[in-house]
Amino acid sequence: MRYRALRVLVFLGACLPLAIWVYQGLGDGLGADPGKTLVDRLGVTALIFLLITLAMTPLRALSGWGGWIALRRQLGLWSFAYAFLHVAGYAFFLLALDTGQLLKDLSERPYIIVGALAWSCLFCLALTSNRFSIRRLGKRWKRLHRLIYPAVGLALLHMLWIVRSDLGEWTLYTAIATALLLVRFPPLATALERHAKRRHSTISKKVE
Ligand code: HEM
Repeated sequence: MRYRALRVLVFLGACLPLAIWVYQGLGDGLGADPGKTLVDRLGVTALIFLLITLAMTPLRALSGWGGWIALRRQLGLWSFAYAFLHVAGYAFFLLALDTGQLLKDLSERPYIIVGALAWSCLFCLALTSNRFSIRRLGKRWKRLHRLIYPAVGLALLHMLWIVRSDLGEWTLYTAIATALLLVRFPPLATALERHAKRRHSTISKKVE
């Protein structure tokens, strides 16, 4: 299988935050409210993986290297895995599996609904990230996978609602997301691809 070593590296890198948090949790390193800390960290990591996934197409356009696209699905699935654990953490640690508290949260904290919408987008993407779905859905698969854009927007809105006063980290993620979306706009995307092609032909001429 091509890019096997790279996939293993991504797997190990993606497991690393979990291993660190388990280690910290065992040694009281997660602060006074470990459940809340864990939920927050899982949410941020899901968002980071989502942004890394979004970066794969522009990186491919810039470098011409197919490996970026080969890693895209794996990274997207890691974003979903962290989002899944984030929601599971919320249900266990913050709600204590109390459905009454969930209904209260839904009516008092609209950001939960925004998070659930982002999560639903990720769920659809994860569910159809396999060869069978690609074959079955044909052209519709590409359209469906544009759900990554609302997923990013909703996740950022969800975060903004929570961190309201401390905007530093949120601004950074939003700037990265905006840049990654801008380079997809046809005039910019075409210019980038042209630049990449020119660079590659110069490099191959030098090698020859
Ligand atoms: C059903 C879906 C979701 C629920 C119920 C949910 C719930 C929550 C809750 C309760 C918090 C605040 C925890 C606290 O500090 O009190 C939070 C924070 C956060 N969530 Fe979600 N979330 C959902 C989906 C998502 C998704 C899909 C993402 C990203 C892809 C995400 C990313 C974040 C981020 C970045 C934070 C802010 C962490 C921080 O810096 O404090 N969430 N979420």
